[in-house]
Amino acid sequence: MSAMEPFVIRGERVELSVPTHDDVDRIAEVCSDAAVQEWTTVPSPYTRDDAVGFVENVVGPGWARGTEHTWALRERGRLVGMVGLNLDPAVPRVSAEIGYWLAPQARGRGLMGEAATLVVDWALDPEGLDAERLVWRAEVGNWSSRRVAWRLGFRVEGQVRGFLTKRGVRVDGWIGTLLAGDARTPAEPWPDGVPTVTPGVRAG
Ligand SMILES: CC(C)(COP(=O)(O)OP(=O)(O)OC[C@H]1O[C@@H](n2cnc3c(N)ncnc32)[C@H](O)[C@@H]1OP(=O)(O)O)[C@@H](O)C(=O)NCCC(=O)NCCS
Repeated sequence: MSAMEPFVIRGERVELSVPTHDDVDRIAEVCSDAAVQEWTTVPSPYTRDDAVGFVENVVGPGWARGTEHTWALRERGRLVGMVGLNLDPAVPRVSAEIGYWLAPQARGRGLMGEAATLVVDWALDPEGLDAERLVWRAEVGNWSSRRVAWRLGFRVEGQVRGFLTKRGVRVDGWIGTLLAGDARTPAEPWPDGVPTVTPGVRAG
């Protein structure tokens, strides 16, 4: 892994750029949303200091050390989400775990699909990160997150007991992977009879 300068990725509707101190109030606001609290590992309750710590201790050093690449997802200049890659050491090529969240008002319009596609394309591009493998993990029942990963081509390979920790408690989790040579389209039909949106997680 090597140090990298944060860079901007532009899509049709989204712009991905490094979150900064100017974003901390908005990050604190969205990370206090009930669904982000319920389905991610952000601190609870989430304070402004947590957002400052995220920008200073996670985002900055992550780029500087090449261990984590984090982008704010901006729509018409407004921060509406976050997407990041957490890197495993290269052996010789890296594996990276993708993570994301959206503000309630930004959900259900495909913005995360677009943003995550841009990040995945860069991560697996030999001219980009040149990762060998990407990983997605989510708590069992987080169908919205799974839907995004499914559209990207991730194969859900297992449901693992006590896989993730949420506020100090072990919860069951799903794991999926996407390899560099995989098609970037759904690898399997969407499971019959299951929701495409996490119950309770709606557009705001
Ligand atoms: C996970 C999360 C980011 C997914 O957000 P999302 O809004 O479902 O994802 P997208 O922005 O990709 O939108 C997807 C839906 O918008 C629809 N869509 C796509 N383009 C669209 C457009 N131009 N207009 C309207 N709808 C559109 C898509 O059809 C898709 O629905 P479908 O897959 O059923 O067809 C969001 O639910 C969230 O923030 N949850 C809380 C935090 C969390 O769980 N994070 C993940 C932890 S593992």
